[in-house]
Amino acid sequence: MADIEGFQTIGVDSLTPHIGAEIDGVDLSQPLSNEQFSEIYQAWLDWKVIVFRNQHIDREQHKAFGRKFGSLHVHPMQHSYGGDPEILTVKTTKDSAYTAGNGWHTDVTCDEIPPLGSMLYMKETPTVGGGDTLYADMYLAYELLSDTMKEMLDGLVAVHDGALPYVGGYNVAPPDGEKYPRNEHPVVTTHPETGKKILYVNSGFTSHIKGMHHWESRAVLSGLYEHIATTPRLTCRVEWQPNTLTFWDNRCTQHHAIWDYWPDTRHGERVSILGTERPAV
Ligand code: SIN
Repeated sequence: MADIEGFQTIGVDSLTPHIGAEIDGVDLSQPLSNEQFSEIYQAWLDWKVIVFRNQHIDREQHKAFGRKFGSLHVHPMQHSYGGDPEILTVKTTKDSAYTAGNGWHTDVTCDEIPPLGSMLYMKETPTVGGGDTLYADMYLAYELLSDTMKEMLDGLVAVHDGALPYVGGYNVAPPDGEKYPRNEHPVVTTHPETGKKILYVNSGFTSHIKGMHHWESRAVLSGLYEHIATTPRLTCRVEWQPNTLTFWDNRCTQHHAIWDYWPDTRHGERVSILGTERPAV
């Protein structure tokens, strides 16, 4: 880890040269000063994934931290798990049929306006170790494409369908009489705050690229997913401990929760923040 200079009220230690940083000097159970909040915000934009260790917060404090970044999101599968609509329980035990997020994805890109970011607060980690989460930098994923590929992708639009993971992966029907969200987004978007370009397709939600034959769309998407899965330099790895909170910028990252701990248990709670605008070219 490297100490990043330029922050006065928080400590920032990078996990890799371009994605992931641990933040210290912050107690999320206490009110943040304006200076601390603006430095946390800057660190999140710069590092895309920020990790807070040894935080002792309850649900209200977790949600209050989320609300500092915007309104809270309600997950499309909320009808199936009940409880607090703004808290997504992420729990895997020996009896789980699946673990949420066990594949490269960006959260809920089936929504018209996908979440701005998500904050996962870990309560229990596997006693055997494991249960880490990988995060990948989608700015860098775009930058590393050839100019020819960039030219081909710019201007294309893809369909993102909630039924793919929620029905196809998890076997959970939508609420009565409803369908899961299905929306179109540009294959290459621009981050609304940094202005940088982002590769914006993911194997969790993207069903196809419009205006292509099925085989053409599959070939392009498979190639892009292979690029993400086989380029380790895109990634950082968060090793969880109980009371770690990780906050990722969902607009420019993908993540993959690793289920390597069966039959052990891992349990956390996630708060997501609503995006402010549709992903734009
Ligand atoms: C998710 O938000 O996809 C779950 C991430 C994790 O459990 O590490």
